[in-house]
Amino acid sequence: MILNRVKKPFYYGGVVSQDHFCNRVQEIKELKNDMDTGLNVLLYAPRRFGKTSLVLKAVKQTNYKYIFLDFMSIVDEEEFINEYFNAISKALYTTSDNLIHFMKKILGIRPNINVEFDINGMPTFSLNFNRRDTKSVLKEVLEIPYQYAKHSDEKIVIIFDEFQEVINLNIEDKLRAAIQHHEDSISYIFSGSKKSIMTKLFFDKSKSFYKSVKHLSIDKINESEWHKYITQGFNKFDKFIEKDHIHKILDISKGFPYYTQQIANELFSLTNSKVDDDLVEYSIKSIIKKEEDLFLNEWHNLSQYQKKALKLLIYANGEAIYTKDTMERFNFTSSSLKKAVEGLLNKDIIDLKTNIYYMQDPLMYKYIKEMSTTLSITPVYRDKGLG
Ligand SMILES: Nc1ncnc2c1ncn2[C@@H]1O[C@H](COP(=O)(O)OP(=O)(O)O)[C@@H](O)[C@H]1O
Ligand SMILES: [Mg+2]
Repeated sequence: MILNRVKKPFYYGGVVSQDHFCNRVQEIKELKNDMDTGLNVLLYAPRRFGKTSLVLKAVKQTNYKYIFLDFMSIVDEEEFINEYFNAISKALYTTSDNLIHFMKKILGIRPNINVEFDINGMPTFSLNFNRRDTKSVLKEVLEIPYQYAKHSDEKIVIIFDEFQEVINLNIEDKLRAAIQHHEDSISYIFSGSKKSIMTKLFFDKSKSFYKSVKHLSIDKINESEWHKYITQGFNKFDKFIEKDHIHKILDISKGFPYYTQQIANELFSLTNSKVDDDLVEYSIKSIIKKEEDLFLNEWHNLSQYQKKALKLLIYANGEAIYTKDTMERFNFTSSSLKKAVEGLLNKDIIDLKTNIYYMQDPLMYKYIKEMSTTLSITPVYRDKGLG
């Protein structure tokens, strides 16, 4: 039955596609357009916001070969070379003979290429090279996609995911130098979860990637799309949810993709046929409980000043934080508050939008607000900012 093709209507964790993918129509269109014109794109949003899902969905709708590399687990230059080489090889792979022939033709220093096959016949490629040749091998590997594009007259899309991790690898300058002359035959997508680092890398004049990209902004998924998606998810399995209940979920998740799916999934599992208020409350509480360790971990990573500043921000709903009363209430001077707020921005705990500070993680916001009895006083601006 087509109806029950997916066992569950909601999913959270890894990459989503097809039935579990909600909206982002505009972003996909824009991204595909940028790939067509060979632009390099910068994309940052908090983790679990849907970056990887979006980029993969967009590129799969094109006919371009694409190379996908996740920087998260890469710890040094040599590992980068091998992981990248493997990703490139897999993307361009037809048969190993063809590939090795092609690689040998363009890799001047001719390191040994190893191919291993797993039980499904899927190859893994790596390079054998002398450590003292690392720099030159790196340079050559960075050129392979471009050489391929030139030889085959094909466009290639290269996705560098969790790109902020590049700062630990000491390859920025080489990478930049390569990217610079790859022009429109290659479109690089740099996606990252740390805005603080990504903006430094790409907008700081002293850094190597300055001005080499177009920034694609992605927002949370909008309310009406979630309404459709969640309603359908329940209905497909003969369960029912009312508008108000969805509204309540979104009020807490703020449309943040991962949490919206996570709460919806919890609620779906708890519901026999019809959602009620208690079930919604219970689901939200249970998800916050599940995530508590993570929030506490983040909390413990803050200095005492930063914790206090976070409370102040929550109290003031992110607005007019430097007013005398507010600062006095939390025992801050404007310079100490400024420093603490900068710290929170650098740790990507908060962000600033239209002059209002907000916490990037909507559930952590709720968690901290509820754990601090001092914050139970009704904040001044109810419908904006952090609330
Ligand atoms: N377009 C989307 N529609 C529905 N849910 C999404 C969407 N994008 C992301 N999600 C939810 O967020 C989770 C994390 O997505 P992912 O693409 O891995 O985010 P990121 O790469 O930003 O960390 C997914 O498992 C899913 O629950
Ligand atoms: Mg991701």
